Amino acid sequence: MTSDPSVPPVSPGSVPPATPGSALGRIGTPYAPSATRVMLLGAGELGKEVVIAFQRLGVEVIAVDRYPDAPGHQVAHSSHVIDMTDGDAVLELIERVRPHFVVPEIEAIATDVLLTAERRGLTEVIPTARATQLTMNREGIRRLADEELGLPTSPYAFADSADQVVAAARRIGYPCVVKPVMSSSGKGQTVLRGPDDVAAAWDTAVSGARVTGGRVIVEGFIEFDYEITMLTVRTVDPATGRLATLFCAPIGHHQVRGDFVESWQPQEMSESALGAATSVAARIVNALGDGGLGGRGVFGVEMFVKGDDVYFSEVSPRPHDTGLVTLATQRLSEFEMHARAILGLPVDVTLASPGAAAVIYGGLAERGIAFENVAAALAVPETDLRLFGKPESFPRRRMGVAIATADDVAEARRRAVAAARTVRPVPGPRRPAPPESPPAGREPASDAAGAADPPGTAPISAAALFDDDTGHRGSEPAPIRPTTGRDG
Ligand SMILES: Nc1ncnc2c1ncn2[C@@H]1O[C@H](COP(=O)(O)OP(=O)(O)O)[C@@H](O)[C@H]1O
Ligand SMILES: [Mg+2]
Repeated sequence: MTSDPSVPPVSPGSVPPATPGSALGRIGTPYAPSATRVMLLGAGELGKEVVIAFQRLGVEVIAVDRYPDAPGHQVAHSSHVIDMTDGDAVLELIERVRPHFVVPEIEAIATDVLLTAERRGLTEVIPTARATQLTMNREGIRRLADEELGLPTSPYAFADSADQVVAAARRIGYPCVVKPVMSSSGKGQTVLRGPDDVAAAWDTAVSGARVTGGRVIVEGFIEFDYEITMLTVRTVDPATGRLATLFCAPIGHHQVRGDFVESWQPQEMSESALGAATSVAARIVNALGDGGLGGRGVFGVEMFVKGDDVYFSEVSPRPHDTGLVTLATQRLSEFEMHARAILGLPVDVTLASPGAAAVIYGGLAERGIAFENVAAALAVPETDLRLFGKPESFPRRRMGVAIATADDVAEARRRAVAAARTVRPVPGPRRPAPPESPPAGREPASDAAGAADPPGTAPISAAALFDDDTGHRGSEPAPIRPTTGRDG
């Protein structure tokens, strides 16, 4: 394990042990014995915003990722670089830092040691260690949703070989989707049109999976009208002292290759579909709690909607990438809501304005890139940018996001897309020739989109990255030109 050299090391014994529950509703002073300490496991763009939200509340934040200078490292009180799939390394760091709360930001974590840490009373895992374990595996969460809760889902089966996929697909029918049980951001997924697609899909799944083993889920393809994320918050209700469940206005989104390129809020829904979606969201997040005050935080409940029918797809026990739009649309962003809920503080889910978000991809494979046309992008009315500061760009790596508000969602989407496409990633200035071997610890990025693109991959135009190839109807609003843009 290495630590950021600019941060004083934590000496064992100097940190008072965190008593789980003791930090609920109470905040100390960073670096002091009274500090309320939060450890983020994963410090990407979503983690960075969570860090900032905690910082504003005076909470001491320890950011952890597997590569140095991750976005969240850049804004935290202290940072660590470890392999988060290494259980010994994760447990050793928790024992040394003794955070009141451990907040996983990604799925690829040794969740079994989170259970150990929780059982030993070392810390509180958000939302719970069990929830992080169930949701990192499509099998765990699907069985909970379908077999235990009876939620509506696509038809599905699990398979451990290409032959079993053929048999499963015959039962479920074509088209269907094959996904590794452990993967995220669309990695390893294929839509099968017929039995001839199985062999390639199996290879894609095996190579895209986070762990070896080759188990996949085969899901019936839902020809949905639209898909949503319902951000659902569990926090302490000051009136009763018990957990309350709050629902944000639904977020609509557009996915390309299983990665979101655009999202907007609110997604218009029929009253009946909204009622069904709210009920599905309530039941799944309740089931991920512990019956007491455990299970607090923001959840992103993903659902497919066809007419008035709602299908549960999956749930993130943490802020959701499509929820970046709430930085513009809600009185409290999903990151601020998460921080408050973790601390047991009141949350409100007020929508302040319709809005949208559009992703800025790297477009090129380079370290230390720069962004041009930022002024022109921000000249689009009611827009803002988040440039994540990732040290290395890949063509399909998410490097930033444009967010916009407007009187209606359609105009907000046009603005966000226009701003995102105006920003132009360019190579940074060349440094002197690097030493023979790369500096220690400079590993490839851990986020999903980046890993899909090996260095040296040809640049892709921004427009091409928005093109749909998933089989769903793309629904892109007509582009507008930025008011003072020279170069769109
Ligand atoms: N059964 C399905 N029917 C239709 N579209 C699907 C199905 N499963 C996935 N998709 C599409 O692929 C996207 C990514 O799938 P998802 O299961 O959410 O994987 P990930 O965990 O990688 O986000 C979804 O948001 C949706 O657009
Ligand atoms: Mg998803």
